[in-house]
Amino acid sequence: MLDTRVEDAINDQINFELYSAYIYYSMQSWFENQGMAGFANWMAVQVKEEMSHAQIMFNYVNERGGRVLLKGIDGPSNEWESPLHIFQTALEHEQIVTGRINRIMDLAIEIKDHATVQWIQWFVAEQVEEEASAGDIVGKLEWAKDAPGALFQIDKDLGARVFNVPSPLAAGG
Ligand SMILES: [Fe+2]
Ligand SMILES: [Fe+2]
Repeated sequence: MLDTRVEDAINDQINFELYSAYIYYSMQSWFENQGMAGFANWMAVQVKEEMSHAQIMFNYVNERGGRVLLKGIDGPSNEWESPLHIFQTALEHEQIVTGRINRIMDLAIEIKDHATVQWIQWFVAEQVEEEASAGDIVGKLEWAKDAPGALFQIDKDLGARVFNVPSPLAAGG
C-alpha cells in the first residue's frame, strides 16, 4: 500500500504533468499560428511526452493500491515574444519539474519507500534529458538571432522529431 504522503505527492505531480502538456499545447498553437511547422511538430511530440508521464504516474499509483484523484488544470500562457522566449520558458519550466521530482524522491527516501525510490529514478533521468533538449534549442536560437536563415533550418530539424513511447509504458507498466 502506498503511503498517503507519497500518494498525494504523485497525484499533485500527475496534475503538474498535465499542466506541462497544456503549456506545450499552447506553445504548439503559437507556432502553428506563426506557420512554423517544425517547431509546432516538436511541441506536439512534447505534449505526448508529458501526457505519457502522467500516464506512467497514474499506472504506478494504481499498481500500488492508491487512488488517482484528478484536479483542475491551471491555464497556460498564450503569448510569447519569440521562439527563443518560448524555449527559455520551456527550460525554466523543466527546471521546476526537476525540483518537484527531486522532492518526491526526497520524501520516498525519508519514509523508506524503496519501491518509489526505484520507480522515480526513471523520472530523475528523464528530467536530465528534458532540460538538455530544451537547453540545446535555447542555445541554437540564441545563435540563430544573428544568422539569417538559421531559424528556418532549426524549424526543419525540429520537424523530424518523432514520439517514442517511453520505456515504462512500452513495457506495459
Ligand atoms: Fe514531464
Ligand atoms: Fe517535461
